[in-house]
Amino acid sequence: MKILLLGADGQLGGYLRHSLTAVGDVRASSRSTTDEALRCDLFDLAAVDDLLRRERPDLVVNAAAYTAVDKAESDANAAMTINATLPGIIGASVAGWGGAVIHYSTDYVFDGTAHHPYTEDEATGPLGVYGRSKLAGEQTLAATGVDHLVLRTAWVYSLRGRNFLTTMLRLGAERDELNVVDDQHGTPTSAGFLAKATAQIAGKWLQDFRPGSRQRGVFHLTAAGDTTWYGFAKTIFEEAQATGRLPKGPSVLPIGSASYPTPAQRPAWSVLDTTKALASFGVVAPDWRSELRKVMSGAYDAASST
Ligand SMILES: NC(=O)c1ccc[n+]([C@@H]2O[C@H](COP(=O)([O-])OP(=O)(O)OC[C@H]3O[C@@H](n4cnc5c(N)ncnc54)[C@H](OP(=O)(O)O)[C@@H]3O)[C@@H](O)[C@H]2O)c1
Repeated sequence: MKILLLGADGQLGGYLRHSLTAVGDVRASSRSTTDEALRCDLFDLAAVDDLLRRERPDLVVNAAAYTAVDKAESDANAAMTINATLPGIIGASVAGWGGAVIHYSTDYVFDGTAHHPYTEDEATGPLGVYGRSKLAGEQTLAATGVDHLVLRTAWVYSLRGRNFLTTMLRLGAERDELNVVDDQHGTPTSAGFLAKATAQIAGKWLQDFRPGSRQRGVFHLTAAGDTTWYGFAKTIFEEAQATGRLPKGPSVLPIGSASYPTPAQRPAWSVLDTTKALASFGVVAPDWRSELRKVMSGAYDAASST
């Protein structure tokens, strides 16, 4: 099984490099890899097509994305190229030799007016460019007819790179007081869990079904439970103090989104119902709090560096 991983230097990509080795031979592509054969700037769609045809993978796992939610508001063309056009290019190419694609999407495809966890077939209504571009990517990929899974996830974090956890740990060491938004609800989901679950899903999906007859489409995949950014921040600092990562946490104060204006509007509620993915692939979603403890203990980073 030959797997081409796109976005291998990203937050999720870094963990997928390791977890996908359980499924096949991983070829890790990014725009800064020293391996010239796998180096690719995904804005160059012709180069992407060349890379795919050269590698001819059985499975493409696309962890690359334009993820700067606020910047996307003023950089829509770039966001649309990477998030909307690229998945269609990948799908059309890979369909040519009967390969398969696993792609990621986001809770930001929803408008956030629900009060229950969103299922896969509920109406979408993205509030910003990022969400619109990711939704368009789901559609362009599906339209190619390739065997594909779209894993919609949310609030991805890890101890690596820039994300809510690393930002909180940095700010918590610098400041005595932090204001954090308490009226947006979602499910913190670790990149380590997502990568492990993706490998489990990929293994089962490719084994149980023959090309062309595989179950396709959108699946929601997050940890279990929900909180707000404020609840997430509070729990991060409790854990940071319990583990001695921060000697003294800051005071965390809840604020409304109106007090923290951003270029892109976020959904007030973006909790996803994961029943379909868990039932279809036997994945067990951990509670987000126990998962945070696991991440902060360094468990995923120790495992993925071996
Ligand atoms: N992060 C979240 O909270 C979140 C929430 C919901 C869904 N998701 C989805 O989960 C997936 C993984 O996200 P993530 O958190 O791992 O994002 P990330 O850390 O921003 O990684 C995205 C990767 O895509 C690469 N990329 C972007 N443009 C590229 C280009 N033109 N050429 C080559 N590579 C390019 C980036 O490369 P460089 O490093 O070179 O820039 C980066 O390595 C994405 O589909 C995202 O939409 C994320």
